[in-house]
Amino acid sequence: MKIKFPLMIAVLSWALFSCQPTVKKSADSIDAKVDSIVSLMTLEEKIGQLTLFTSDMDQTGAFIRKEYEEDIKQGRVGSIFNAYGAEYTRKLQKMAVENTRMKIPLLFGYDVIHGHRTIFPMPLAEAASWDLEIIEKSARIAAIEATAEGLHWTFAPMADVSFDPRWGRIIEGAGEDTYLASLISAARVKGFQGDNLSDLNTLVACVKHFAAYGASQAGRDYHSVDMSERMLREVYLPPYKAALDAGAMTVMTSFNDLNGIPATASKYLMTEILRDEWGFEGFIVTDYTSIMELMYHGVAADTLEASLLSINAGVDIDMQAGFYNTALTRLVETKQVDEELINIAVRRILKVKYLLGLFDDPYRYSSTEREATEIMTPEFIETARDVARKSIVLLKNENQLLPIDPATKTIAVIGPLSESRRDLIGSWSAAGDWAKSVTLLEGIKARVPNARILHAQGCDIDGKSKDGFAQAIAAARQADVVVLALGEAYWMSGEAASRSDIGLPGVQQQLAEAIHATGKPVVAVLMNGRPLTINWLDENIPAILQTWFLGTTTGNAIADVLFGDYNPSGKLPVTFPKNVGQIPIHYNMKNTGRPFDANNKYTTKYLDVSNEPLYPFGFGLSYTTFAYDEIELSKSSIGLEETLTVSINVANTGDFDGEEVVQMYIRDKVASVSRPVKELKGFKKINLKKGESQKVSFEIGLEALSFYRADMSFGAEKGDFEVMIGGSSVDTKSASFSLK
Ligand code: NOJ
Repeated sequence: MKIKFPLMIAVLSWALFSCQPTVKKSADSIDAKVDSIVSLMTLEEKIGQLTLFTSDMDQTGAFIRKEYEEDIKQGRVGSIFNAYGAEYTRKLQKMAVENTRMKIPLLFGYDVIHGHRTIFPMPLAEAASWDLEIIEKSARIAAIEATAEGLHWTFAPMADVSFDPRWGRIIEGAGEDTYLASLISAARVKGFQGDNLSDLNTLVACVKHFAAYGASQAGRDYHSVDMSERMLREVYLPPYKAALDAGAMTVMTSFNDLNGIPATASKYLMTEILRDEWGFEGFIVTDYTSIMELMYHGVAADTLEASLLSINAGVDIDMQAGFYNTALTRLVETKQVDEELINIAVRRILKVKYLLGLFDDPYRYSSTEREATEIMTPEFIETARDVARKSIVLLKNENQLLPIDPATKTIAVIGPLSESRRDLIGSWSAAGDWAKSVTLLEGIKARVPNARILHAQGCDIDGKSKDGFAQAIAAARQADVVVLALGEAYWMSGEAASRSDIGLPGVQQQLAEAIHATGKPVVAVLMNGRPLTINWLDENIPAILQTWFLGTTTGNAIADVLFGDYNPSGKLPVTFPKNVGQIPIHYNMKNTGRPFDANNKYTTKYLDVSNEPLYPFGFGLSYTTFAYDEIELSKSSIGLEETLTVSINVANTGDFDGEEVVQMYIRDKVASVSRPVKELKGFKKINLKKGESQKVSFEIGLEALSFYRADMSFGAEKGDFEVMIGGSSVDTKSASFSLK
């Protein structure tokens, strides 16, 4: 058989690649190799690399293309998502490597959002730990497990700031604050990607959803976003940027349009900001069928126009629409698209594959041996339990009802979430097996094996029936204390899961009222993916634990807190409103020209609800108490080049050892644009034994004082500032200084 000339070069080139050592390649040599591969590729082969299809192993969007295996063999696809498992990924990889002319390995992606097999708390819950180290660790473990099953790429972190708890996807982010979300996004990237992409257990991160997806109007998923450039740059963009600065190699476009231009067609976002301003060199992938959706947005009439808009915007990979496959050849032939644009995109993708070592060994991640030994190890489970208990927020604890004395004789465990298993791992639970999660009931039984545990479900999460109330009331009557597990089902948050009423679903509040009427002490354990409006609980139930969806180890982690083996230290990363009419409500709002004054009608307020939230940002109680002294300043004014040290003494004045998140906020009192009443600019999580105290210091420099000024330049303005330090956004000590 005669080997055709280009094919021969390709084979030689592939051989060349295969001989390369996997580590420490210089950027130049990688670029040269990638260039040489691209120069050998046909236009169709290149377009294949710009295409990502899902396998049918999991479904994360509306459409599945059944012919994906044929697509792989024909080189019509360069990456596959929703496929994992050493054997399965090996099988698909073999199809690509053995059937295509260029033998370019596939990249396998998946939504590894909060764990892969060992499921960690949902991201918003992890954010409540304010513990960057454990957040990074949780992402690291997710990466180890995912890569052991053949995955190379995760569609995380979600760096979307959101002020809207109606939006179901608020569960996937780090909450409402830009500063906190930036640090957390960066920690997640570091965890996923590890130290060196060529290591076998590093997972390429994908920052999403670029941009401003969290601002979807009225909290309705996929809705439009309209905002000022100032808001975009100041509030929404920094967490994406922080993730890229931490090394994230890829970015996903968002579904929404931003000021009329759908993100997937936005040259402004994808090229001007991402590449020209921020110097991003990795590749950009659309969200699920987003190129096709440009037609529904009404900015493209057909496949050709939609593809043209996206490729021109700077989007490298088409996820699941198959539009690039259909349209790009024609667009190049008719000279509407310069082939060099496609070459550039292909280079970006091949470079990531190269850095992962896939050109050296396309199967290096698909290891049955690692799969057998590096999944759900005791160490991973123990870490997940630690992250889970650190994510719990104590919202109320009247008369120190908690912790429960482990010697308590009879405990009633009631509520629709008390024995739920599936809900515990939340949405986006990747390859997590919900059957392996520990229920609340199991966790309590394991912790207090000698106690008499009575159990009744009471009602369904979302039903109307009160048939189970009588049994629940009977159980409560016999108990010394009731643990009442209430909240949402796992499917009530996540993608396409917005709610307009964010109260307890179904008849759960009535159940709580009935149990409360027994006169027994009740501890409410809330499991939910978003802030809920739980005013009645707050007014009537003496102890409330916000436990979110904590993952595989839920029951044990909650028991650790309930019985005082772990003193809760979580702080809310998002405001809990009193009702949906207050939304958007967040701690860093503006003062307005008519700040609230109860004695003056013509000031900013509602007639039917206060301006105050139910629970503010940064709030969370402990079993102990912390006392803050006054703030000390190293000087009362600083110059532009100087830094100021602000310190405060924090004492543990209660009866338990405990951790506290010391939060530092700043307000610019007079500026060329109105500034928020406070903005988080630093925090430290400290551990204090009872009776102990510690001086906590923060450095304030130009960065913390800078903002987008009236002319949109970024920098600080001279004048007076207030610094506030405390254990929540509303409970702070304050001092003033000036910038000269
Ligand atoms: C749609 C979601 O918006 C996105 O976050 C996810 O990564 C993709 N589907 C892939 O599953």
